[in-house]
Amino acid sequence: MEKRICVLPGDGIGPEVTAEAVKLLEDVGRRFGHRFDVVYGDVGGSAVDEHGTPLPAETLAACDTSDAVLLGAVGGPKWDREPVERRPETGLLGLRKHLGVYANLRPVKVFAELANASTLKPEVLAGIDLVIVRELTGGLYFGQPRGRQVGPDGVEVVDTLKYTEHEIERILVTAFEIARLRRKAVTSVDKANVLESSRLWREIAERVADRYPDVKLHHVLVDNAAMQLVKKPAQFDVIVTENLFGDILSDEAAMLTGSIGMLPSASLGAGPGLYEPVHGSAPDIAGKGLANPLATFLSVALMLRHSFGLQQEADAVEKAVEWVLRQGWRTADLTGGQPPYLTTTEMGDRVRDAILTGEYEDAKDAV
Ligand code: IPM
Ligand code: MN
Repeated sequence: MEKRICVLPGDGIGPEVTAEAVKLLEDVGRRFGHRFDVVYGDVGGSAVDEHGTPLPAETLAACDTSDAVLLGAVGGPKWDREPVERRPETGLLGLRKHLGVYANLRPVKVFAELANASTLKPEVLAGIDLVIVRELTGGLYFGQPRGRQVGPDGVEVVDTLKYTEHEIERILVTAFEIARLRRKAVTSVDKANVLESSRLWREIAERVADRYPDVKLHHVLVDNAAMQLVKKPAQFDVIVTENLFGDILSDEAAMLTGSIGMLPSASLGAGPGLYEPVHGSAPDIAGKGLANPLATFLSVALMLRHSFGLQQEADAVEKAVEWVLRQGWRTADLTGGQPPYLTTTEMGDRVRDAILTGEYEDAKDAV
């Protein structure tokens, strides 16, 4: 198989973790006989520095002509005072919108070896295997009007939470389709006791559920969902929710795994998929070799599976990550900063070696 991947390293630790992932792709290609061609583009603050915009036209063109996009992270204090059109996050949101990747999948699995890296008790973590399906191109992030003006009572601000029926229905369909391949339970998270958008969301969820009689649907209010996620996280299979709720709940869910450095994501639409670790650009540790590349590696696994249909190769990456953790190898985020720990590149090497040698093959399943 021959595929072209557009890599957007971005800011902070983004370049370090994507560099490891590019080497990973090469080794997966070597082991399984595929060719992955990599092209690069600028996005975020580094693109502002280089081109005066966080999302240059060249970057969009490079993404459009690729089979998938791998992004590191964007943002940092250097660009915090920039006007909105020059903010790194504007570049990321523009990219998601341009690619039309409305379905953001954030699988959360606890690796047995990391159970004690979490702040939660091991008995709470047992059996967690959930995926958050976050609507990614609508809601408060994109609704118009938005802005700031001065009114009779001083400054006034407005953000708009807007969804169309079509936008809600397609993300729910994604969630039900995914649930069918899993434990067949969808939890739809909303705030239907208060918000008009959530009331429509709930109606459509019911309607879609009628087409999936084999899948169970539950509605949970977002405040309760936040509580249930730390109280009894193993109850969830597929959680589907709108953009902002999904943003917040997925950071919370990341902590179940002990480190946000472990959480991958896939964003899917009609065109090339966008794959990114859930963690941010971590400017405080950038350039120090302290970043954990595993969330990016697991994002590559999602790319292999969802964009290229390479199931065996995706499994190999996930198993190799698990195997490396079983050997006791850790990056600093997983030891609470206590030495000994591996650098970003050392961790990358361990995983790649495992893939090339096939050592991971005796790995058992995660908790
Ligand atoms: C994420 C991030 C982004 C978001 C930011 C950087 C705009 O937090 O991918 O979760 O809120 O979507
Ligand atoms: Mn987020």
